[in-house]
Amino acid sequence: MSTIDSILRETRVFEPTDEFKRKATISGMEAYNQLCDQANEHYAGFWGELARERITWKKMFTRVLDESTPPFFKWFDDGVLNVSYNCLDRHLAQLANKIAIIFEADDGQVTRVTYAELYRRVCQFANGLKSLDVKKGDRVVVYMPMSIEAVIAMQACARIGAIHSVVFGGFSAKSLQERIIDAGASVVITANEGMRGGKAVPLKAVTDEAIGLGGCDGLRKVVVYQRTNHGCAQWNDERDIWWHKLTEGQPETCEPEWVNAEDPLFILYTSGSTGKPKGIQHSSAGYLLGTINTMYWSFDYKPNDIFWCTADVGWITGHSYVTYGPLAVGATQVIFEGVPTYPDAGRFWQMIETHKVTTFYTAPTAIRSLIKLGADLPNQYDLSSLRLLGTVGEPINPEAWMWYYEVVGKRRCPIIDTWWQTETGSHMITPMPGAVPTKPGSCTLPVPGIAVDIVDESGAPIEPGKGGFLVIKRPWPSMVRTIWGDPERFKKTYFPEEFNGQLYLAGDSAHRDENGYFWIMGRIDDVLNVSGHRLGTMEIESALVANPLVAEAAVVGKPHEVKGEAVVAFVVLKKSPESRDEAQQIAKNLREWVSHEIGALARPEEIRFGDNLPKTRSGKIMRRLLRSLAKGEQITQDVSTLENPGILQQLQEAVN
Ligand code: WTA
Repeated sequence: MSTIDSILRETRVFEPTDEFKRKATISGMEAYNQLCDQANEHYAGFWGELARERITWKKMFTRVLDESTPPFFKWFDDGVLNVSYNCLDRHLAQLANKIAIIFEADDGQVTRVTYAELYRRVCQFANGLKSLDVKKGDRVVVYMPMSIEAVIAMQACARIGAIHSVVFGGFSAKSLQERIIDAGASVVITANEGMRGGKAVPLKAVTDEAIGLGGCDGLRKVVVYQRTNHGCAQWNDERDIWWHKLTEGQPETCEPEWVNAEDPLFILYTSGSTGKPKGIQHSSAGYLLGTINTMYWSFDYKPNDIFWCTADVGWITGHSYVTYGPLAVGATQVIFEGVPTYPDAGRFWQMIETHKVTTFYTAPTAIRSLIKLGADLPNQYDLSSLRLLGTVGEPINPEAWMWYYEVVGKRRCPIIDTWWQTETGSHMITPMPGAVPTKPGSCTLPVPGIAVDIVDESGAPIEPGKGGFLVIKRPWPSMVRTIWGDPERFKKTYFPEEFNGQLYLAGDSAHRDENGYFWIMGRIDDVLNVSGHRLGTMEIESALVANPLVAEAAVVGKPHEVKGEAVVAFVVLKKSPESRDEAQQIAKNLREWVSHEIGALARPEEIRFGDNLPKTRSGKIMRRLLRSLAKGEQITQDVSTLENPGILQQLQEAVN
């Protein structure tokens, strides 16, 4: 049974336990509906009250929502605040000695920092950045391993009003270079190496390579955190500076830079339908409010929780639910440097037991791979501290959901399947765990205040059961503000003309069942979701055709048991391989090539060579056919418009 079939037939419903419900922030459907009604009736009042309550302002705002220049919405825009102040300073009176971060390194070593220590270290590093002449509005690229220092780097930027742009440590030199250039960054913060699964990741060397590619003209300084005892292969005395040298002797306080609510907090690049990643720009106050609300609502945050989100800070999930949300509410959180399978597939369960984790948030792909490696493993650990589970990043198949629910959560813990995006900043659709009954595979109902709908091509609402475009009908505080340096692209991509520029187009298709529950079906654009990571097919195609052997390439996704989706590349070589061996060797080289151009996450699972690609007479590549070929389906589509039907058989057989 395919995933979609099994989702459509899913009828199991799970209510929260009475105990969970009794203590929950939003307790019961009535409370949930009441919040939704309030938001509906007094939209600005609803958000304004939350913003007044949950954010500490330097100067209170007087306007909630400015809709005068859609889709460039402004929230709380005459308010003044500092996000780092909200994450650190305001906790010092009550929580100075509370543990903020429990960091577990790849090798199992544990380091704890209190709120007071974290505050001091952020201030010192912020002063260090200032000594490098980093000012409000400057862009700082963070290319770091998972570490306390990564959080410090981001918080320090927020403290001085600099705009960080975190680049995931698995991205290649070329991807890093493109982001440094697009953001116009003046400083890069990196580490000599990172450690993952016992292997060193040479972050500084990749940074050197990125800068060596040229074009990073505004870049003045590279700050290097020394994670391991190894030195750096290259060192540029004028440009490079060790983290510990930079912070040495710096004062342990640093007056925050008070910024306007709408001043950008960060840029985070994500893939879209074109070859060029988009710099998603987020605001300060609205974004912060989104993360705080969802900490209280979706994660039902309580002061004695031990919160663990396994996402890397290189992704939006790590921004909202590692660096900002948990600190803004004063939580104790676990941060993990390594990978779930090292030293063995019990690592997550071991860590939950050791640190008495109450709230665990991970990706379906991790769950699926751990089921494969040891469906019984969780039973060897004491997981009784858990009270809430969450998933993010891709649809979760009901089988994986049930395993998570029964084997990990022992049927006690609600699962929040959280649908959201880099662009939305915080959760959009997910069950409020003490209220909304869950169904395996559905992200259920919207977060209060979020106006989600499903529409057809003309923007008209669609009846339950039918698939359509997932849209958001009203602006919300943590929404993307623009694409860095490209407001036109922002408008065209997210508020298309077809919908009169009135609806936010998420880029996903979905349907709703008879209870109004949302079921996400997948992307509607040329974006793949590989292990919960967004990848543009065009980005991979551009990387492939940049190889001197390649004449043409088309990339599609195919369903994959663990990764959700896997990359399949159809490639036309300039010179056909003469033997099977040669073809395999070239395929191997091309995989390495893509890894080197973009990052290992984009490496094609499968490469097929052909003399040509299936094209219409007007020269358009028929991607639908390629998707069928990749899935191994019989071609039943009409191929009469195909210029070269003979090519199909060739591509069917040429798997490498
Ligand atoms: C997909 C990650 C189904 C979706 C926070 C979306 C999901 C894209 C879910 C955003 C979910 C995310 N169920 N699909 N719970 N969560 N997605 O920007 O296609 O990395 O558009 O943000 O991931 O990915 P992004």
